[in-house]
Amino acid sequence: MAKIIAIANQKGGVGKTATAANLAACLAESGKKTLLVDLDYQANASSYLGLKFEAKKQSKSTASVITGESRLSQTVMKTCHPNLDLLAGDMLLSKLAREKILEPGSVLLLKKAFEQKEAKAYDIILIDTHPSLDLLFQMALTAADFYLVPMFAEADPFDGLQYMFSEITTIKGTLNKGLGFLGLVITKFDRQNTTHVKFLELLESFCKSNKIAIRGLIPDSKALAGSSSNQKPLIWYKPDLPVSEAYLALAKKLIRDLTTAKGSTTNGTPKVKGTPSEIMNLFGESRNLEIF
Ligand SMILES: Nc1ncnc2c1ncn2[C@@H]1O[C@H](COP(=O)(O)OP(=O)(O)OP(=O)(O)O)[C@@H](O)[C@H]1O
Ligand SMILES: [Mg+2]
Repeated sequence: MAKIIAIANQKGGVGKTATAANLAACLAESGKKTLLVDLDYQANASSYLGLKFEAKKQSKSTASVITGESRLSQTVMKTCHPNLDLLAGDMLLSKLAREKILEPGSVLLLKKAFEQKEAKAYDIILIDTHPSLDLLFQMALTAADFYLVPMFAEADPFDGLQYMFSEITTIKGTLNKGLGFLGLVITKFDRQNTTHVKFLELLESFCKSNKIAIRGLIPDSKALAGSSSNQKPLIWYKPDLPVSEAYLALAKKLIRDLTTAKGSTTNGTPKVKGTPSEIMNLFGESRNLEIF
């Protein structure tokens, strides 16, 4: 049975797509049959894998699977790696989010799509979400077993996180009681930047006392832009760079920790306003899980 992980942060440009695409590639490279679901009408994950235009040409879209117009098996696209498939994003997702908003039960549509038997062929399904708390975000968090939050090592990105956690709390309380929080991935981290280093120190201490995993520390690297414009995830673009190794380490850590049930997750966070420390204190109890 595939385990489903939503990569989520309502803040734009924090490395969700970079993390989703590179983690998916590294999971595939590590032997896990992986499906990357592009749930963003910007379709950046689809571009990253070099399939945005081919998907458009073939009218293959995540939106059509959500609406039931096509089955998963007819719509997934093969990538350059046998373990990695893509469900491509496009502008139809935006139309879908607008049109379905008032339809009862529409939030469950992605979850239902993943109940198709073809989804069982995957060890893991990663969902790249877009920067919003709209219906698409709710669909992703309703369909997911876990969520992972990429963020920068700066206080600013905390702005707005409380709204996302509040939304997730609602989803956990109603549609998806088993949703687990896998932790944080710090993206674009620069060891020479004293703000980053100081923020990380604070964050590590919050996370330690609240049993929140910092799953990965991804260095700031120009290679990210190069890999994205060459439409090749880092592990197949420049595998020896620290940034590529960091994403591979994240994938392996995730696989190992979760396989051996050492990985801890925390329940989705409640409540609203607060400083970073208050927000972090809302993360709740940890628990062990086995996902593979
Ligand atoms: N580790 C990194 N080093 C350098 N640049 C990075 C890194 N991670 C991401 N970036 C760059 O930051 C920008 C934003 O990244 P990305 O598109 O992954 O963010 P996002 O959260 O998916 O954005 P959106 O909310 O718009 O979907 C991109 O230009 C990307 O190339
Ligand atoms: Mg993105």
